[in-house]
Amino acid sequence: MPVRRHPIAVSASNHPLQRLPLDVGLIARLKATYARVRTHELQLAESFYARLFAAAPHLRAMFRDDLQSQAAKLTAALDAVVRNLESPQENAAMLAGLGRRHAEYGAKPEHYGLVVELLVESMREVLRTSADDQAILEWRTALRLIADQMIAASSADLPAADPAAPPGRPC
Ligand code: HEM
Repeated sequence: MPVRRHPIAVSASNHPLQRLPLDVGLIARLKATYARVRTHELQLAESFYARLFAAAPHLRAMFRDDLQSQAAKLTAALDAVVRNLESPQENAAMLAGLGRRHAEYGAKPEHYGLVVELLVESMREVLRTSADDQAILEWRTALRLIADQMIAASSADLPAADPAAPPGRPC
């Protein structure tokens, strides 16, 4: 089977991986799954924020009270990622900006794992699909790559960690 490039993975423009064709089959499957998720937009966001604040109540204070507009922004960001799956460099620029803004909101690299897993759980819930469904696993990988890019951009401008500082609170 020919080797293909994941649409969300990015590498330097002169990297040999850039010469690989994008995995168009994966792009089509990610789009099809998202279209199904998108019909439950409000339910997805509701389920996600309920799970997030139940699992990590200390994060609630970082968010404004108006979770509806936050939910709309989250959906708009995922819409944009899906729209640009054939243009990884555009997604990379968008996700870098999002990651830098998240550093200003107080998001820490160690928060992303939880956010990704809970988004995946919420997708699974709205799609009412079984735990090992391939479509969900493909979206988990996509969200992890999205988070990786956001973290990379958010850490790029930060000073090196102080080795004497206590470790961040896991969540
Ligand atoms: C897959 C990862 C994530 C995505 C796609 C995402 C998406 C978004 C979007 C689109 C916004 C709207 C504001 C903007 O565009 O700058 C936002 C705001 C925000 N996000 Fe995230 N986010 C992610 C991960 C996280 C994580 C790990 C945290 C950490 C707790 C977090 C906390 C926040 C906060 C505090 C706000 C601002 C809320 C407010 O202004 O009330 N996000 N996020």
